[in-house]
Amino acid sequence: MSVKVEEVRQFWNANPCNSDMSYEADRRRYFEEITAKRYNGRDWHIPTTAQFEKYAGKDVLEIGCGIGTDGFEFAKRGAHYVGIDLTENSVALARERFELFNVKGTFKVVNAEAGLPFESDSFDHIYSFGVIHHSPKTEAIVDEMYRVLRPGGTVTVMLYNRSSINYYLEIMFLRRVFRLLLYPQFMPNLLSKLTGFDEWKLKGHRDLMLKNPNPTKEQWISMNTDGPYCPLAKVYDKYEAYELFRRFRDVRQEVWEFNTEHWSLIGKIIPLMVARTIGNLWGWHRMIYAAK
Ligand SMILES: C[S@@+](CC[C@H](N)C(=O)[O-])C[C@H]1O[C@@H](n2cnc3c(N)ncnc32)[C@H](O)[C@@H]1O
Repeated sequence: MSVKVEEVRQFWNANPCNSDMSYEADRRRYFEEITAKRYNGRDWHIPTTAQFEKYAGKDVLEIGCGIGTDGFEFAKRGAHYVGIDLTENSVALARERFELFNVKGTFKVVNAEAGLPFESDSFDHIYSFGVIHHSPKTEAIVDEMYRVLRPGGTVTVMLYNRSSINYYLEIMFLRRVFRLLLYPQFMPNLLSKLTGFDEWKLKGHRDLMLKNPNPTKEQWISMNTDGPYCPLAKVYDKYEAYELFRRFRDVRQEVWEFNTEHWSLIGKIIPLMVARTIGNLWGWHRMIYAAK
C-alpha cells in the first residue's frame, strides 16, 4: 500500500525535526543549543557540504526547512532566504527562530510535490537536506526544483544512501535479526539499559512487530530510519541518484556520516578519524550537487 503525503505531514507535524534536541526554557538558548548539537555532533559535515557562506546575496530556496537550523545559517550570511515545509509546526518554529535573532527570511507551508508556488527561473540555489526521500512523489519535487531554478543555478540535496553501512548492515541485516529479541515485553527496557538505545524507539519497534510481523521492504526501511513511526523513507545508490537528477548538469555526489550513536559501545570507542573515514566510504548521507 503506498503512503499518502497526508501521513507524512502528520508525522513530521507531530515531530518537527530536531526540535527535541534541546529542553532549554530560554527560546534563544533553545535554538542555539540545537544548532550547536547539530554541527558539533553527527551532522558536523553540514557546514562543509552546505557551504552557507557561498550564497550571500543570492536567492536561496530551502525545500523542507524543518525548524530552520540550516536556513538560519544561509540567511545570517546574507542569502535572500525562502524556506518551505509541508508542516505548520516546523514553519512556526523556523519563523520564531528567525524573529528571535532578527534575521530576515520568508516562510511558507507548501507540499513541494504538489508544485512550488514560485515563478520559473526564480532561485540561484536550492537546498534540501533529508527531505525529498520522505515524500511519496520525490521525482515531482525534483522536476519542480529544476523549473524554479535559474539557468546556471545550483542544488545541494541530501538523500539517504543505499550503498551504506546503515542500509545493508544495520537496517537490512542486524535490525532484522535482532528484532526477534524484542518479543518478550521486558526486552525494550533491558536492551535500552544495556545498549543506551532509546527505550521508546525499542518499544515502538516491538509494538509494530506485534501488529505487523511481516512488513514490506518499503515499510521496513521507513520504520528504521527516523524512528519506528516514520511513514516513509527511501534510499538511493549512486545510479538511482544520477537517474533522479538526470535533467541537471554537472551532477556530483559524495557520501558522509557514520552515526556512531547507532553502535552502542563500539560507537563510543571508535576513533573519530576512523568514523569519519567510514562515513566518506559507506555513510548514510548521499550529497548531490548539480546545476541547471
Ligand atoms: C527529516 S526532516 C528534515 C528537516 C530539515 N531539512 C533538517 O535537516 O532539519 C524532513 C522534513 O521534510 C518535510 N517534508 C517532507 N515532505 C515534504 C514535502 N512534500 N514538501 C515539503 N516538505 C516536506 C517534513 O515536513 C520535515 O520537516
